[in-house]
Amino acid sequence: MGEVDPAFVQDAQHRPKLAVIEAEGIPLIDLSSANASNRVLQIADACKNWGFFQVVNHGVPSESRRKIWDAARKFFALPVEEKRKVSRDEVNPLGYFDTEHTKNVRDWKEVFDFVVRTPAFIPASDDPDDKELIELTNRWPQYPPELREVCEEYARETEKLAFKLMGLISLSLGFPENRFNLFFEESTSSVRFNHYPPCPVPHLALGVGHHKDFGALTILAQDDVGGLEVKRKTDGEWVRVKPTPDAYIINVGDIIQVWSNDTYESVEHRVILNSERERFSIPFFFNPAHHLWVQPLEELTKGEKPKYRAYNLGKFLATRKRSNLKKLGVENLQISHFKVSE
Ligand code: OGA
Ligand code: NI
Repeated sequence: MGEVDPAFVQDAQHRPKLAVIEAEGIPLIDLSSANASNRVLQIADACKNWGFFQVVNHGVPSESRRKIWDAARKFFALPVEEKRKVSRDEVNPLGYFDTEHTKNVRDWKEVFDFVVRTPAFIPASDDPDDKELIELTNRWPQYPPELREVCEEYARETEKLAFKLMGLISLSLGFPENRFNLFFEESTSSVRFNHYPPCPVPHLALGVGHHKDFGALTILAQDDVGGLEVKRKTDGEWVRVKPTPDAYIINVGDIIQVWSNDTYESVEHRVILNSERERFSIPFFFNPAHHLWVQPLEELTKGEKPKYRAYNLGKFLATRKRSNLKKLGVENLQISHFKVSE
């Protein structure tokens, strides 16, 4: 395997298959269609059967999208010393980062993260008695100079879509459209640029190892290269999400799984690499405030047993962060750790 750092090499069971299975069945939902009740049904179906769907006519202006793609490409094209001027550190997880590990294997990627709303806070440590908070501050690079403004505008526009989608999901669960809105005041939502450079060993490494998103909802823009794979619920097969021009890929995260008491599941996904082409993607992670206690909604647990104990989002993330930054050789904290035994 030449000079590839063994830190990138996946265990045999997690290596990608060379034959690609295109996922024909991932629902494509038109958010401008006049038939609102049909839209809600489509969302319910998609969330139940796939945990993933794509949306078109989503309302995020194409100009805003074009500008952020441009800025992301310009940023990653900078020399690495320039990018490292805005590196994340032990205290503040925002900025540039190229040594992320998913499930203790290094991802073949570099990223740039920023939060959508400032000020944003997270607990300073995972100790439940430690009430100290740290403020998350965005680290804006000097180049390209327009990056900050472009990012702020994109984040505002995409957040509107996030609320719209959360409203539809709420309706699809039988709740009022605004049922979840309060949870997103003082949100810790963030946007990430992902850059997956061409990889000489795409059969051994992954751009992002298999994982579930910890937040409520993810709104992902991807380019035309493709590489996102989703674990199909019906048979556990990894299937490729074919890029659809101008569409967003939406997936339910762990928090919706808990709120919905397992009505909807957060589905595993990963990113396959390409030996010739680099790939870019831009996820928007829609996340509640750090102080929120995440638990099944009380309307649901009147009739059925809660499947999860409440967990504090900020402390959950602080525990995760500790194990993500370093390769600690331990399993990451998962919502399954809060599962109530049957
Ligand atoms: C992620 C992720 C998918 C992609 O960043 O959490 O799943 O296609 N990214 O880049
Ligand atoms: Ni993800």
